[in-house]
Amino acid sequence: MALNEFLEQLQQLATEATAAFGQADSLDALEAIRVEYLGARQGRLKAAQKLMGQVESEDKPVAGKQFNATKQEIEAGFEEAHQRLSGSGGSRAADPTFDNTLPGEAVGGGHLHPITQTIEELKDIMGRLGFSVADGPEIEDAWHNFEALNIPAEHPARDPLDNFYLATAGAASASEGEAPLLLRSQTSNVQIRVMESTPPPIRIISLGRVYRPDTADATHYPMFHQMEGLLIDEQVTMADLKSVLRLFATSYLGDDVHIRFRPSFFPFTEPSVEADFSWNDKWIEFGGAGMVDPNVFKAVGYDPEVLSGFAFGLGVERLCMRRHGVTDIREFYKNDVRFLHQF
Ligand code: DAH
Repeated sequence: MALNEFLEQLQQLATEATAAFGQADSLDALEAIRVEYLGARQGRLKAAQKLMGQVESEDKPVAGKQFNATKQEIEAGFEEAHQRLSGSGGSRAADPTFDNTLPGEAVGGGHLHPITQTIEELKDIMGRLGFSVADGPEIEDAWHNFEALNIPAEHPARDPLDNFYLATAGAASASEGEAPLLLRSQTSNVQIRVMESTPPPIRIISLGRVYRPDTADATHYPMFHQMEGLLIDEQVTMADLKSVLRLFATSYLGDDVHIRFRPSFFPFTEPSVEADFSWNDKWIEFGGAGMVDPNVFKAVGYDPEVLSGFAFGLGVERLCMRRHGVTDIREFYKNDVRFLHQF
């Protein structure tokens, strides 16, 4: 017997059996159908199994595999019908007032957290501007979180009250000069990690969690997300920085958004600015930015005489909150599905 013919018969058998089980309207009827198809001696499936003996021996593996699949399909059809007729579905099917064409109750699926959705969108926008995504560790050493970013040992930003230092052997002996570990306080650590491992030019963003011992309120949370950006090349200027941030702001928040720089200070940029975006006639600060400080280039072995670049760090929650009109950052981390389902 030709393999094709055998496979067709199996197909036919499965279709007929499934239809028959689907139409069974009582347990007695179902039993009769079960015997017809699955009966151990006279069943049609048994007959098909005997037919398999006539298939060429080199086709037997394929035939056998398909036979097993068909058997499982028919058995599943039986199980389903059995559940329908013996459970609450059985009495419903028998109930002439039950309208089985009514739409069922929708099963709610999950979806990505709003911050994850935001991160995906930010990557998409920056990707179109030519920035690729870099990653760095959340548990960081003082070199990458501070030192190489021009934040020396006695700098107030390194105060234990403002950082989550880890109680490791390293931390305990930090006073003896060993590097302590901490939960990174900024994604700027990724700037250092990228420059240490990659020659210029650089054009990256990095999105991730940062940690600070702040008391949670409507605008603060001890863990939040930042988008770090870094572009290094020859002859990069502040105008490039402003263009990129303006394109970013209008892509994410809308064409009517304006951008403003205010003078500021960060140890790792010179000059430094706070970047504000206008929103409903109000200026809102979204993060810091500036031209990479020559000391940072020296720390990673780049030549500050040849290279220049800009960096920025924006708050992801803040962007998402503006975009969606969320007024309390804590909402993101309460895990209340009534809130999360809206995104
Ligand atoms: N790391 C800064 C912070 O956490 C933000 C920042 C400011 C990042 C200026 C930068 C920058 O890359 O150039 O507040």
